[in-house]
Amino acid sequence: MNSVSAQHARVLSGMRPTGRLHLGHYHGVLKNWVELQHEYECFFFVADWHALTTHYEDPTIIPDSVWDMVIDWLAAGVNHGEAKLFIQSQVPEHAEFHLLLSMITPLGWLERVPSYKDQQEKLKEKDLATYGFLGYPLLQAADILIYKAGLVPVGEDQVAHVELTREVARRFNHIYGREKGFEAMAEQAKKKMGKKSAKLYTRYRKAYQEQGDLEALNAARALLESQQNITINDRERLFGYLEGGGRIILPEPQPLLTKASKMPGLDGQKMSKSYGNTIALRDEPAVIEKALRTMPTDTNRVRRTDSGDPALCPVWQFHLIYSDDEVKSWVQEGCRSAGIGCVECKQPVIDAVLSELKPIQERAREFEEQPELVRNIIAEGCEEARDVAQETMAEVRHAMCLNYR
Ligand code: TRP
Ligand code: SF4
Repeated sequence: MNSVSAQHARVLSGMRPTGRLHLGHYHGVLKNWVELQHEYECFFFVADWHALTTHYEDPTIIPDSVWDMVIDWLAAGVNHGEAKLFIQSQVPEHAEFHLLLSMITPLGWLERVPSYKDQQEKLKEKDLATYGFLGYPLLQAADILIYKAGLVPVGEDQVAHVELTREVARRFNHIYGREKGFEAMAEQAKKKMGKKSAKLYTRYRKAYQEQGDLEALNAARALLESQQNITINDRERLFGYLEGGGRIILPEPQPLLTKASKMPGLDGQKMSKSYGNTIALRDEPAVIEKALRTMPTDTNRVRRTDSGDPALCPVWQFHLIYSDDEVKSWVQEGCRSAGIGCVECKQPVIDAVLSELKPIQERAREFEEQPELVRNIIAEGCEEARDVAQETMAEVRHAMCLNYR
């Protein structure tokens, strides 16, 4: 059982620095981040150590990629006033936590993660039989758990990593949450909430433990959540006691599945740098226009007088994203009857992509011109992240008996 409600709905996500971002990132990830930052306390970070797990032989591209990516985030509307933006390696607590979690993580759990074998297969030209690569998902678990994040927006391919994170958290809590005299401490903590709340808590706990009453469980969680006068440790004890276990030091996160981006590439396959079919957010308008103008269409439409089928045309995929119903039926009709030409058909797409990117490019330019500002934004985010990370590490060290002086 997890206690998302206890984690004041904190959101955390990271991105490997892969250079300038494209429309696939924008539609698949960044637009989602921009929405989430209004609703939750968000932590977004550059996973530069994760990049090293696959690029350890060629790290020179990482620094530029980091700053390019941050500028693209800001340009896309990720707002440093709302979300905390930082760089993984600037919060070294992640590494300490990764090390400590490695002590309790069975090798088999890591070997079983599907991406481990998949990526080794896919990136055959690289030697990924390394300790660091095996630990990739555990480093990710450390990233997530150090902020006690409740929600982790990820794509389908990362769900197994969040699942591993949950298992590691559970194991950690199981081993280290069982302090001596736990029950007595939980009972003590309960009293600190005051008579009325304590009574309610007892009633809910009983209903949940004896009858599996989930509503009671949720009500009890909400009750704990609303307590102003108890310490974090006591709250964790009461969360754990509620569910019958020990203290919940590391709450289990949930994946927040981002809908697969429907953003097609210029050739109709998924937009991806490895297919060379991308439109980068900061490509020059003239370059974008040319790329769209020369993109392939239904191959059966050789001459202007041949009719075509939008279902067989990558341009139609763009209309699905960018055009309203009126334009879409104009395309359907005009294409099938050879009433419109392909150049004509592409124009509304070109206009829509350019107008979508215009404000993004303007903002990007402002940030490009102020590298100091970008550095400061990140420095501030790193500091805020470090504050939270240090708090968790203090608890973790204590739980693992490392707090001697
Ligand atoms: N592994 C993620 C990816 O490749 C990046 C990442 C690293 C991440 N740490 C994370 C994502 C923590 C979410 C939460 O996309
Ligand atoms: Fe594709 Fe439009 Fe040409 Fe039809 S008219 S083939 S949809 S570009």
